[in-house]
Amino acid sequence: MPFRARTATASLRWSLHSLHLGFCSLALSKPHQFSANCHEFLPWLERKAASAVSSSLFIGKSSYGRSLFASKTIQTGDCILKVPYRVQITADNLPPEIKSLIGEQVGDIAKLAIVILTEKKLGQDSEWYPYISCLPQLRELHNTVFWNESELEMIRPSSVYQETIDLKSQIEKDFLTIKRVFESVHISFEDFTFKDFMHACTLVGSRAWGSTKGLALIPFADFLNHDGVSEAIVMSDDDKQCSEIIADRGYAPGEQVLIRYGKFSNATLVLDFGFTVPYNIYDQVKIQFDVPKHDPLHDMKLELLHRNIVPHPKDMKDLTYPVNTFIIKEVKSDRGKGKGLPQSIRALARVLSCTTFHELDDLVEEAAQNDGRLARRPLKDITKEIQAHLMLLSVFIQLIEERNETIMSLGSSYCPPFCERLFVRRLVAQDLLFGELRILKSASAWLENYCFSLTC
Ligand SMILES: *[C@@H]1O[C@H](CO)[C@@H](O)[C@H](O)[C@H]1NC(C)=O
Ligand SMILES: *[C@@H]1O[C@H](CO)[C@@H](O)[C@H](O)[C@H]1NC(C)=O
Ligand SMILES: *[C@@H]1O[C@H](CO)[C@@H](O)[C@H](O)[C@H]1NC(C)=O
Repeated sequence: MPFRARTATASLRWSLHSLHLGFCSLALSKPHQFSANCHEFLPWLERKAASAVSSSLFIGKSSYGRSLFASKTIQTGDCILKVPYRVQITADNLPPEIKSLIGEQVGDIAKLAIVILTEKKLGQDSEWYPYISCLPQLRELHNTVFWNESELEMIRPSSVYQETIDLKSQIEKDFLTIKRVFESVHISFEDFTFKDFMHACTLVGSRAWGSTKGLALIPFADFLNHDGVSEAIVMSDDDKQCSEIIADRGYAPGEQVLIRYGKFSNATLVLDFGFTVPYNIYDQVKIQFDVPKHDPLHDMKLELLHRNIVPHPKDMKDLTYPVNTFIIKEVKSDRGKGKGLPQSIRALARVLSCTTFHELDDLVEEAAQNDGRLARRPLKDITKEIQAHLMLLSVFIQLIEERNETIMSLGSSYCPPFCERLFVRRLVAQDLLFGELRILKSASAWLENYCFSLTC
């Protein structure tokens, strides 16, 4: 499933992303209903683990719900918690009769979702009850898969719109697969609705870490909130059979302790975690380009592009991208210097701007004489080079306008009082679109400068 779970180590299949806790969005949510069993949680876990988990953290409440705080002075380099594998939940915890049947038909997220659902059904009889009962309720989540149609309209211009639809249909597919497996061994699946399953998948997708033995829910560690600039991450030690976290800075007693789950853009945040952050250093916008159908060189261009340019964002290998999709990050220098726009998208523009076979041939030949990469150098004809980039600029301007329009309509739309859900989701939508706007503007400023520099 295309959820991006948190990762334990950089070498794993999931990319290391980062997200900042949704200070603005989450602050509005009601605190989790945990006060009752809160004090008993750590002792319960330590009994279950038959070892100490943490002596320097306590569970408390911050403005955005449950959090972990320093119970004593913590110094850089201190190990702040150690959760043995035996008290982590992995696909191994599936009911045995289901485990053997389900095989590789669904991914780890769906498997862990089944574990959550079956344990939840057991209620207080579940050996995981204290943990399961702490997980956020459906109404506390704002991931876009839970948005209704009119709420989704708020993010229409963003790629997150389509990604939400795709994710939901993937979850639905998994749901039906699992249902079939349950029914084939005459285990009732009636108790679980699609909504329950989606809820469970979302919990896993936003709380589990990848490790050498697949995805794992790590109780207690998952109470830590996230700071995108923190260097503290969850590390798994196969020799010691435990996951641990080393403090990357000092904390005074009573201070909230934060770690970095991964490096995530707002788009990933709203899709997989249901919130955005005040300032996200992992900004990016995903955009798509099509070769116009009416272009007489359509087929040849498409063929060339498939062969030569197709970007494969190496940090997102787990997602399948259409070939014409590009990831744009904020362009730091608008002077036409520095990194500027991704080379692949500029190469695409040069290819698209060709109007004759001859021009395309020249590009192919030039690539062959150099490092084989198509259209990586400025076109020899400066007017053409400008034209290609102006074409890109016009695309960016349109993307900017679409977002601007939606943001304006969000600002003026009516939000009924006490409708917290809509209020939170609208903020999330605005954050997402504002962030994309900022990136697109940096890209278009860069393009303007580049074109200007060529005309002088
Ligand atoms: C995420 O949202 C924040 C808050 O509005 C914004 O400042 C930031 O630029 C956004 N980043 C992205 C990548 O959308
Ligand atoms: C958005 O559109 C409004 C009205 O057309 C305009 O005043 C404003 O400058 C635009 N903002 C951006 C960021 O383009
Ligand atoms: C969608 O959610 C909004 C609140 O966020 C609500 O006002 C609206 O009635 C809902 N629409 C449907 C079709 O359920």
